[in-house]
Amino acid sequence: MSNFIFSNHDTVELAKKYSTPLYVLSEDIIEENSMKIKSAFEKTMIDYEINYAGKAFLTTAMCKIIQRLGLSLDVVSGGELYTAITANFPVNRICFHGSNKAISEIRMAYENKIGKIVADSEYELGILNEIAEEMDVRPNVMVRVSPGIEAHTHEYVQTGRIDSKFGVPLKLMESVLSDPNKYKNLNIIGLHCHIGSQIFDEKPFLIAAGTMLELMKKLTNNGFELKQLNLGGGFGIPYLNDEGAFDIENYIKKLVEFIKEKSTQLDIEFPKILVEPGRFIVGPAGITLYEIGTIKEIPHTRKYISVDGGMGDNPRPALYNALYHAVVANKPKYNDDDEELVTISGRCCETDTLITDVLLPKCEAGDILAVLNTGAYNYSMASNYNRLPKPAVVLLKGNEDQLIVERETYADLVSKDRIPSWYD
Ligand SMILES: Cc1ncc(COP(=O)(O)O)c(C=O)c1O
Repeated sequence: MSNFIFSNHDTVELAKKYSTPLYVLSEDIIEENSMKIKSAFEKTMIDYEINYAGKAFLTTAMCKIIQRLGLSLDVVSGGELYTAITANFPVNRICFHGSNKAISEIRMAYENKIGKIVADSEYELGILNEIAEEMDVRPNVMVRVSPGIEAHTHEYVQTGRIDSKFGVPLKLMESVLSDPNKYKNLNIIGLHCHIGSQIFDEKPFLIAAGTMLELMKKLTNNGFELKQLNLGGGFGIPYLNDEGAFDIENYIKKLVEFIKEKSTQLDIEFPKILVEPGRFIVGPAGITLYEIGTIKEIPHTRKYISVDGGMGDNPRPALYNALYHAVVANKPKYNDDDEELVTISGRCCETDTLITDVLLPKCEAGDILAVLNTGAYNYSMASNYNRLPKPAVVLLKGNEDQLIVERETYADLVSKDRIPSWYD
């Protein structure tokens, strides 16, 4: 019987070769997803930029992929910026985000002459301006707005509503940007908003676009020349078999039609449009392979299948009740009679449930479980809880497979520990 094939590779062979738990990422799927967004924009003939949101998954190899695909890169910390710089990612294509950037990070961004910075608050505009003056630079800056749009998604990932730590509240924008001479060391080129994640409907994006264009008109009247509009990421992906995918082509087509109409009506220039997807590009490009160990059946209650990873490598179910689908990689096809409803448990000392109630064929210790769509916000959110080393990441491209992140060792786990001198 054949095994579960992911991006042309036998996943059981990958588990044998690299051991488990193992993150597997497909460059071909990353390319396919990126091209869906790119070709949707190309059809509209407008000026656009796709900023891959590095927070979803970022390593030096990922920077190389993003560079090859002609995308730009959104970073949110000195660490992400350092990763991009180490990978020689073109600095003019880097955009630096974050709701509380450290002064050292701002200096690092200026020193490296990165393409643009998104100011998240009035306070930050002041700091950005001061440091720019001191360093004698004039960075391109976009201002993040909290537009008060409630996208239909999980509450913890709604970031565009008024009660949010992100961005300048819409109502305050006209007073924050009332005078173009106030931030004279900054080249304020546009506005940004991000209304949430896992959004499947284009409507909240269009409402946000309308709100932002009206704001651009008001700020233009205040004397600002705003030529760019970043509408963020958040395009939903189907984590489960029965969810539909976000229709990117339809969204971009409707968005461009809408912006053309609205900007004509407001008598403002059609801005350059930017988007900032993370999950849509990398989420479906990743799976995680685990080995099944302990199986515990509580009669008339539940059958627990334990795997050799868990919330350390995928904290999303514990954080957001995120749902995932899985297959038994060495038993991808089976008779219905062999199917049973089970719960997948991680090995951490918490409840650590990866998947509650999934239909799988009868499992035994040693089987390989593949959890699907783990490319985004898994490796990037992983921790060493319970002193578990982080898994390796293997990249697939065509028929090739290569490590892009080595598995952590026990030695890595203690490498930053120090014993105080009174124990000498
Ligand atoms: C400002 C910003 N941009 C882009 C993203 C990427 O979102 P997604 O991965 O859902 O596309 C996020 C996610 O939190 C974000 O906060």
